[in-house]
Amino acid sequence: MGSPRVRGNTDLLLDRALSGAESQGAQIEKLIVDRLNISPCREYYGCLKDGNCVIRDDMDGIYPKLLEADIVIVASPMFFYGLSAQVKALIDRCQALWARKYILKQDPPGSGRKGAFIGIGATQGEHLFDGSALTLKYFFQTIGVKYADELLVRGVDKKGEIQEHPAALADAEELGKRLAQA
Ligand SMILES: Cc1cc2nc3c(=O)[nH]c(=O)nc-3n(C[C@H](O)[C@H](O)[C@H](O)COP(=O)(O)O)c2cc1C
Repeated sequence: MGSPRVRGNTDLLLDRALSGAESQGAQIEKLIVDRLNISPCREYYGCLKDGNCVIRDDMDGIYPKLLEADIVIVASPMFFYGLSAQVKALIDRCQALWARKYILKQDPPGSGRKGAFIGIGATQGEHLFDGSALTLKYFFQTIGVKYADELLVRGVDKKGEIQEHPAALADAEELGKRLAQA
């Protein structure tokens, strides 16, 4: 959950997706990225040697989760046409996993693991989610999951306003169910 606004639009949308997945028997774990201690990448490049980041913070516990989960959902508000800084910091720290895959030639666990993007923004911009979707495509590739699904919601701004949206919450529930079923 990539928004700093707990119980905001992203959070509510993600919760519905998670309850959809849970209804199909999935075990869920939700990370509120803003509450974790995640340094941005510092380009120390220790990861090029052995695939491990030299920074010790909450990413230590997140790398194994990203490599073990059958489904990874990234939910983020759009901030200046991109993912929130909190989510982007987490993704950039996965340069260590990129090094494992592309430098050290250690493939991440794959075989059917799936990734999905839940994006939300205030405007109606045609290209509102393009940059984030591209970032996530390469992020998912790096951690060995397929970009399998997405829910992109425009025109929602105030905290909790998503609850007045005619379809988004039901769509999120369906997305969660789809991901957990197949
Ligand atoms: C720093 C910042 C930048 C934003 N940039 C955009 C933007 O580029 N495009 C857009 O449609 N909405 C933008 N928004 C609006 C949020 O995406 C919108 O309010 C969203 O519903 C917030 O979701 P949340 O309640 O989960 O945090 C921005 C909001 C903030 C705080």
